Parts: sequence; C-alpha cells; structure tokens
Amino acid sequence: MKAELLYEGKAKQVYRTNTKSQLVLSYKNDATAFNGKKKAFFEGKGRLNNEISSRIFTYLQEQGISSHFIKRLNETEQLVHETAIIPLEVVIRNVATGSILKRLGLKEGMPFQPPLIELFYKNDELDDPLINDDHALLLTNITVSELKEIKAKALEVNTVLRELYQSLNLDLIDFKLEFGRSITGEIVLADEISPDTCRLWDRDTREKMDKDVFRQGTGDLLEVYEIILHRLEERK
Ligand code: TMP
Repeated sequence: MKAELLYEGKAKQVYRTNTKSQLVLSYKNDATAFNGKKKAFFEGKGRLNNEISSRIFTYLQEQGISSHFIKRLNETEQLVHETAIIPLEVVIRNVATGSILKRLGLKEGMPFQPPLIELFYKNDELDDPLINDDHALLLTNITVSELKEIKAKALEVNTVLRELYQSLNLDLIDFKLEFGRSITGEIVLADEISPDTCRLWDRDTREKMDKDVFRQGTGDLLEVYEIILHRLEERK
C-alpha cells in the first residue's frame, strides 16, 4: 500500500499510497528539541506517538471534530487524507509555561482565561518566529475567513481535549496544531497530536508528562509517554 517517500521531517516520514488522495504517516523513533539542536533516539517512541495520536484524532472525530486522520494502520503508521500543510504552528495556551515566559516576562503557572492563541511561522531557517495575523495572511495562502476558521477550530479542540485529559487526571497546559489544505481546497486539521506537541501536567503531582522531560532533561520520555497511552487505554 505504501509507495514512494514524499517527505521526511524530524519525527515522521510521509509516503504516497496507491490511492491518489491518501498518504501514510510513519512515526520515527527520533526526538528533537530546540529546532533540532537537541536530538536523541528512543526505541519505541514511534509506536507511542502513533498510538496516542491515533487515539486523540479518533476521539476528536467522535466529538464531531474532523481531521486528516483516516485510521491507524499498524504500530508506527497511520493513513491520512492528503493535505498541503499550511506553514503555521497554531499554539493554544491555557497556562503560562515554555517560550512565553521569557518573551513576556510571565511567571510559570499563570492561567489564561480565555486561552491565548499564538501563531508561529513554520520555518526552520528562521527558527519558527512568532507572527501576527497580518504576517500569517502574507506568508501563507489562507484567507481572512480561513484564519478565523482555524482559530475557532483550535479553540474547539482545546475545549474537547481539556475535558478528555482532565478525565485522565492531566491538565492540558498548551499545545500546537497544524492545518493543511485538502485536494478539494478545504482547511483540515492535520499533523499529529501527542505529548510531542502538547504540555500535560499531572493534576495531583504537577509533574510534567510530555516532551518537556526530554527538552529539560528531567525524566524518562518513554516512561512518561507509556503512562499517557496507558491512561488513554484505560479510559472508561
Ligand atoms: P513553546 O512554549 O515552546 O512555544 O511551545 C508551545 C506548545 O507548542 C507546546 O505544547 C509544545 C508545542 N511545540 C511543538 O509542538 N513544536 C515546536 O516546534 C514547538 C516550539 C512547540
């Protein structure tokens, strides 16, 4: 079913298939941080990201939020609808942590109500700079109304995933989404949603249960991702 390699990123490979508008996403065992400056190989990480991301996209679909996701194919691969990725990282923040702390001089843990939306330009050479709406319209092919649609969808994903993670005794602190344009021209939620792209804090211990354990060197990435998958599997 898998045909030629179309694209290889830091954490995934994208393959064509025999079906024109469908692609295979293959999750790699690599972890990178700080735009690839920190790198490591974790045997089994690809499986964990694929399993978690597949479960999250399935849950979103059950809640009426569509995406590029079609189905999980095997341990490390999923089938998705083809899209052209829009070079925007759409970040939603419920609580202050990460890059916003130094940028705006905020204290870690400050809640944002309503949640903050930030846009970053997905461009490794420029180190994914923070941009505003006008920049997003200049640098991508989306329209004003599509940008509005993207933001509304990101907030909807936030509402649904906050509730899901709360039921797993986790707080969804912040996360990043990417959107693509389908071959029929629609804007579609795409990429992956996993502890690589979210921050999750345990509600009891406040421990960080996401890629920050690798970014900050404070814990065992595989152990933490296994816990997230286990809580998702045990969900009633
Ligand atoms: P930040 O605080 O480093 O800006 O990250 C905000 C959120 O976006 C956090 O949940 C991690 C996620 N993220 C990615 O998924 N990819 C990235 O390249 C970066 C910088 C952040």
